[in-house]
Amino acid sequence: MHEIIKKLRKDSLTFEQLAHIIENEKYDEEILNYANEIREKYVGNEVYVRAIIEFSNYCRMDCLYCGLRAQNKNIKRYRMTIDEIIDRAKLIAERGIKTVVLQSGEDTYYTKEVMSNLIKEIKKFDVAITLSIGEREFDEYKAWKEVGADRYLMRHETADEVLYNKLHPSDTFENRKRHLFKLKELGYEVGAGCMVGLPGQGPIELAKDLIFLRELDSDMIGIGPFIPNPDTPLKDEKGGDLKTTLKIIALARILIPTANIPATTAMGSLHPFGRQLALKYGANVIMPNLTPNPYRPNYTLYPNKICLFEADTSCIECTKAMIKSLNREVGKSYGFRVKAS
Ligand code: 5AD
Ligand code: FES
Repeated sequence: MHEIIKKLRKDSLTFEQLAHIIENEKYDEEILNYANEIREKYVGNEVYVRAIIEFSNYCRMDCLYCGLRAQNKNIKRYRMTIDEIIDRAKLIAERGIKTVVLQSGEDTYYTKEVMSNLIKEIKKFDVAITLSIGEREFDEYKAWKEVGADRYLMRHETADEVLYNKLHPSDTFENRKRHLFKLKELGYEVGAGCMVGLPGQGPIELAKDLIFLRELDSDMIGIGPFIPNPDTPLKDEKGGDLKTTLKIIALARILIPTANIPATTAMGSLHPFGRQLALKYGANVIMPNLTPNPYRPNYTLYPNKICLFEADTSCIECTKAMIKSLNREVGKSYGFRVKAS
């Protein structure tokens, strides 16, 4: 193994060296295989299944890359009722899945109290709850933690300050960082992560993403390719490629060995075996889509998203079959992060 790859594990790599590794294809094979070794050693053979309910596609933000942006008039907006969300969570729990992920655009229609009640009801089904609903007030995060929310996903999207501020007209990277560290302080398991292939993002910027994930000690790490959405200002940009995205996932595994890392839906949408490859090279989580119809096809962050027209609950069996086909085991526990002692 190249000396420089070994250094990745020892915190002794400079920023420039990391960017060099990202840029240079000669390290690719070693990195991918090493990530798989580290995955096996630190998080084992189990793959955790987390069912996702995309309960509202209303969003107050205008992120330049995202199909849910407020200015996009070409999607049909929906909000699930509280009863609909609870019914879905119940079905998920009955199928033996131990985590329910509640995801939406930034939609304050679901107030602090409404979310608190929802969390309390879903907790009765004996599942871990992950929230993925964007930036909210700190006292809201606190209240939801107190009633039983376990985890919070909020990608940092890009750790390059200039690029972050360009892509998020009403937000700054400084502010996003503040929220992520606050969530950690409140005791959530926190999931950050980035897109790969954003316009203006090269090896230097990707190195910043990895350094940031390690600085935060991100408990969960969501990484996927940027896929240009025709209904957004970034429609004519190029988007991320499979190889680079896989490499960044693998490097995330090597740098933060005990993190829970999903094989993201965007990986599956970019390439028919994108998720399988991610699981092979570092990932240990998969998130089947359990958004009910008629809503599911309207949660269009990017085009060609997989699973939109599958039968209602088929993603459960599909992801479990995928896990087995890779000679891995379906995780039986809640799948909290286990830090190395
Ligand atoms: N391509 C890929 N990923 C996207 N996301 C939003 N829009 C896109 C896109 N066009 C990702 C963001 C967000 C997550 C829910 O989806 O990283 O955090
Ligand atoms: Fe949705 Fe395979 S995971 S169809």
